[in-house]
Amino acid sequence: MHDLPAAPRINPSILAADFVNMQRDLARIATADFVHVDVMDNHFVPNLTFGPQMVERIQATSPVPLDVHLMITDPDRWAPGYAELGAASVTFHLEAAADPVAVARALRERGARAGVAIKPGTPGESLYSILDEFDQVLVMTVEPGFGGQGFMPETMPKLEALVAEARRRGSEVWFQVDGGISDATIEIAAAAGADTFVAGSAVYGADDVEAAVTRLRELARAASLES
Ligand code: DX5
Ligand code: ZN
Repeated sequence: MHDLPAAPRINPSILAADFVNMQRDLARIATADFVHVDVMDNHFVPNLTFGPQMVERIQATSPVPLDVHLMITDPDRWAPGYAELGAASVTFHLEAAADPVAVARALRERGARAGVAIKPGTPGESLYSILDEFDQVLVMTVEPGFGGQGFMPETMPKLEALVAEARRRGSEVWFQVDGGISDATIEIAAAAGADTFVAGSAVYGADDVEAAVTRLRELARAASLES
């Protein structure tokens, strides 16, 4: 099994890295908790990144474990393969899955943490009865598909309600936010109960990538202590 870093966790998104300097850009985030790997199929979202062959090379090269975010149609068919490549976690979209519980179980059987993501318009209640099947929940704070978009604060009540429901059930599921997370917004998400933060442009757009990771972590820690 993988060592599990404590909250708050900062997962830089390599969607904002230089794809032809991936090895260099992976080395830059050695102090982060996980590397967030966005797989897009140009079908579930209107953008295309890469598939298993690239993820296999990232797995072999990354200094930190992989947090794979599948923005793809038919995760029932494709998600287990990413667990087999050795990803620490594999997150698929609830909206795309025919049988989310079966996918979650297939991921866990292959040694990965099972993650489920919901788009901004998807109600949190749709996850309540299946929370126990997952190790992490990703509440999207932008419409999935592109980096560099603005954080959507209207997703925060849904996150708060999901966190409360998980606590009520005694669940230790992690709550991740993804999209528009920066120095200006991370405290809002931390105060709402997020414990894991994906940041693409805020990390790779910084002059000092390592300092950006440290600063985001400190801001999240302070805001979660206060809330
Ligand atoms: C968007 C992706 C995000 C993206 C976030 O669909 O899932 O992981 O990289 O980028 P920023 O942090 O720039 O909003
Ligand atoms: Zn993502």
